[in-house]
Amino acid sequence: MHTLETERLLLRPWQMDDLEDFHDYARVEGVGEAAGWPPHNTLKDTEQVLKVFMATEGHLAIWHKADQKVIGSLGVHVRDATEPGHEGKKFRHLGFVLAKDYWGQGLMTEAVRCLLTDWFENQGLDVMFCGHFDTNMRSQRVVEKCGFEKIGEGPYESKLLRRTFNQYRYKLTKAQYGRVSQTW
Ligand SMILES: CC(C)(COP(=O)(O)OP(=O)(O)OC[C@H]1O[C@@H](n2cnc3c(N)ncnc32)[C@H](O)[C@@H]1OP(=O)(O)O)[C@@H](O)C(=O)NCCC(=O)NCCS
Repeated sequence: MHTLETERLLLRPWQMDDLEDFHDYARVEGVGEAAGWPPHNTLKDTEQVLKVFMATEGHLAIWHKADQKVIGSLGVHVRDATEPGHEGKKFRHLGFVLAKDYWGQGLMTEAVRCLLTDWFENQGLDVMFCGHFDTNMRSQRVVEKCGFEKIGEGPYESKLLRRTFNQYRYKLTKAQYGRVSQTW
């Protein structure tokens, strides 16, 4: 994927020398758990995930321009549609994680809006799906501020955490994006 730029961030492909920055936020308690994975205990844990990110389409590192480091990730994944009725449409699933020190500055909203703009305007996307655990109010606000519509809820089994969560599920269609993005 190509590099995208916002006021404060670059969204760009992962590189091997992002390893330490990635580990710095992935080892912190309360970060990965909200997205379904446990804190990384060792640099080796992070390296394994980083190699997957680099080898798989759709993973972007979030680079903080002022602080000159990677502070999070965005993933655009190919999976089955969350609800029926999207046959023949181009759809993806969105996931995101930000380093704890950077929460509450509007950074993920800025990143997600930029990514959605690129996918809807340049990459022919029809629908973006996403979801969050029902207790994750921060993620809920990001999703709401980006205009997603709640379409249901249900169990999500995290094999890594050996726990089942109740997940709220959302979609944003191209038409919805067209309306909401006028206000960004
Ligand atoms: C979810 C996450 C990406 C949010 O990133 P962020 O850059 O802090 O998000 P923003 O600053 O754009 O928006 C956060 C919103 O949550 C609100 N918020 C913060 N703490 C909150 C709380 N305890 N309860 C309710 N809302 C809260 C903020 O006020 C803000 O909303 P507002 O703009 O209406 O005031 C970040 O917290 C994170 O990475 N969490 C761990 C991983 C995760 O949850 N990933 C998503 C999995 S679905």
